[in-house]
Amino acid sequence: MILKIEMLGAPVLRREADPVEEITDDVRSLVRDMFDTMYHADGVGLAAPQVGISQRITVLDVPHDEDEDERHVLALINPRVVEASKETEKGVEGCLSIPGIEESVVRPSQVVIEALSPDGETVKIDASGLLARALQHELDHLDGVLFLDRLTTLKRDLALRRWRKSRVTAADGA
Ligand code: NI
Repeated sequence: MILKIEMLGAPVLRREADPVEEITDDVRSLVRDMFDTMYHADGVGLAAPQVGISQRITVLDVPHDEDEDERHVLALINPRVVEASKETEKGVEGCLSIPGIEESVVRPSQVVIEALSPDGETVKIDASGLLARALQHELDHLDGVLFLDRLTTLKRDLALRRWRKSRVTAADGA
């Protein structure tokens, strides 16, 4: 089932999401709906707050850096960063909750993430490149943080201005 994606300005995007206490069939069904919603919107990652659910769940389908046909397909419950590299990397990001806006964001180039799978198994992911970036972007969502928050004030203001303008244009039907 395709769910409605919350847009910038929705309070749920700014809330710290609650940990999942128990992985029930409802959680697994939400994970499936989140995959449907992400693919429908042509995204590589989606966090539960983006579909209005303040729980620590995210799904990703990220191409390998070397081979676009190989994908990292992940559904993560209660994910957390256990290690982040000192080196950082700059890369372009967008967000399904802020369509049309893309900006370069600086983040640690490598991270280790621990999470539970929808089957309740502990998973550990040693990520670099695009996967590391996507994971950090999605985990930020679970803390109410958006990629715009990671820009300089000047770049953020410009991006927000562009965003508001695009919204007005969309509302006009132009
Ligand atoms: Ni996002």
